[in-house]
Amino acid sequence: MKVFGICASPRKSTTEYILTQALKKLNCETEMFTCNGKDLKPCLHCDYCLENKKCIIQDDMGEVYENLQSADGIILATPVQSGSVSANLSIIMDRTRALEAIDYNLLRGKIGMSIAVGGDRTGGQDFAHLANITYFMIHGIIPVSGGPFGSNLGASFWSQDSIEEIKKDDYGMESLNRTLVEFENFLNKYI
Ligand SMILES: Cc1cc2nc3c(=O)[nH]c(=O)nc-3n(C[C@H](O)[C@H](O)[C@H](O)COP(=O)(O)O)c2cc1C
Repeated sequence: MKVFGICASPRKSTTEYILTQALKKLNCETEMFTCNGKDLKPCLHCDYCLENKKCIIQDDMGEVYENLQSADGIILATPVQSGSVSANLSIIMDRTRALEAIDYNLLRGKIGMSIAVGGDRTGGQDFAHLANITYFMIHGIIPVSGGPFGSNLGASFWSQDSIEEIKKDDYGMESLNRTLVEFENFLNKYI
């Protein structure tokens, strides 16, 4: 069993801290990709992938393609930016089209969960979750939440833009723990 976590922050900070904690709590092989320092170019909509079954762009997306395919579970961890996911994650989402071009079923049946880290307490975490859940559904990935009472759509954090502050977000950590329990339940049941 393998879980692949994507940290969609352009820097090494609060989102990476939370995703690292999340991956440590899982009882299986894990792999993390961070967007920090990576070369990720936007989709050109050139349709090269539809003809050639691979993306024409040579950049760090290759690592993401490999891990998306080999993983059983996928965690999308994003900072909330302008009320939704980061620009990096939006690029990764668009570029997944090249995997669909190889085989429509490549990601189907994997399990997915969402982590959203906002600088504000109510800064759009749910909208970021919805963007992640929409991505999961488009690709046939089964989205999992921690259920009602705080983790309805996934794990939501209030960072106040600081690692020291996010460590004090007990409510956020509870939402992560609940979501991870369900994520592991689904992995064990369906994979
Ligand atoms: C361009 C930009 C847009 C942002 N927009 C939001 C927002 O809409 N809502 C929010 O709660 N925080 C927003 N933030 C704050 C980040 O979500 C917050 O600082 C988060 O902890 C950053 O994650 P990181 O430390 O992993 O980079 C924004 C930050 C940036 C740089």
